[in-house]
Amino acid sequence: MVTVIGLGFVGLTTALGFAEYGHKVYGIEANPGRLKTIQDGRLPFLEPGLDGALARHLGKNFIPTDDIDTAIANSDYVYYCVGTPYGTDGSADLTYLYAAIEQTLGAIHDDKFRVLVTKSTIPPSTTERRIIPFLEERGIRVGVDLGVANNPEFLREGHCWEDFTNADRIVIGVSDPRSEEMFRYLYANEKAPLCFVSLTTGEFIKYLSNTSLACLISFANEMSLAADRISRTTGGGGV
Ligand SMILES: NC(=O)c1ccc[n+]([C@@H]2O[C@H](COP(=O)([O-])OP(=O)(O)OC[C@H]3O[C@@H](n4cnc5c(N)ncnc54)[C@H](O)[C@@H]3O)[C@@H](O)[C@H]2O)c1
Repeated sequence: MVTVIGLGFVGLTTALGFAEYGHKVYGIEANPGRLKTIQDGRLPFLEPGLDGALARHLGKNFIPTDDIDTAIANSDYVYYCVGTPYGTDGSADLTYLYAAIEQTLGAIHDDKFRVLVTKSTIPPSTTERRIIPFLEERGIRVGVDLGVANNPEFLREGHCWEDFTNADRIVIGVSDPRSEEMFRYLYANEKAPLCFVSLTTGEFIKYLSNTSLACLISFANEMSLAADRISRTTGGGGV
């Protein structure tokens, strides 16, 4: 079973995607209005394909709830899909992520091995240098009591469902063999290759993807300006 914390574009898509794969998924959302909308079977945003998935899985494989104790007690995987906005100095603001991890730890009352998975975008080395120390300060033996991992998302708004269900690769940053084994089970029905990499490499791949796309957009914009200029200087018949 899976708990997804944060039901925005990424979290709701992830939750319904795992439900579609046949897993039981709890969705935790801090915004009561958004939670109620989803519990009522409506999407809080327009996203083709997600409406059908919500109708298929709500109350069956997908349980949106504010009962984090029950969700965590029953879950083997906890996915964090909360916002990680840029802070004032340009670094990622991990406030929401830390709060969600604290809530998770507060809801653990047994010694079951769970894997805590960041899907939110975080700068390379964040798990090694910030999240693992954060857990260790709270007495958690990472890799023994709990696993940590990241599983970045490459979906496009407007194409979330299509991108999740037809992913061309699944990147998983992980450091302990037990968590890796759990991901092989979680993604057993996935057609795309599973790419297991180190924690920091997983985070870096997401940044590489974002920056490559940004470069492509800038390049396309520059070429469009050039084409426009050529067109005007050649009387409109050039490009
Ligand atoms: N939007 C995209 O296309 C996209 C694509 C890839 C990666 N990402 C990354 O994924 C992350 C989430 O993005 P998003 O667009 O879904 O964000 P979002 O802001 O739309 O959704 C985040 C949700 O988390 C909820 N939340 C925050 N703290 C919570 C808590 N403690 N418990 C329960 N719910 C909580 C918020 O209320 C909100 O509904 C970000 O790090 C983003 O950079 C986004």
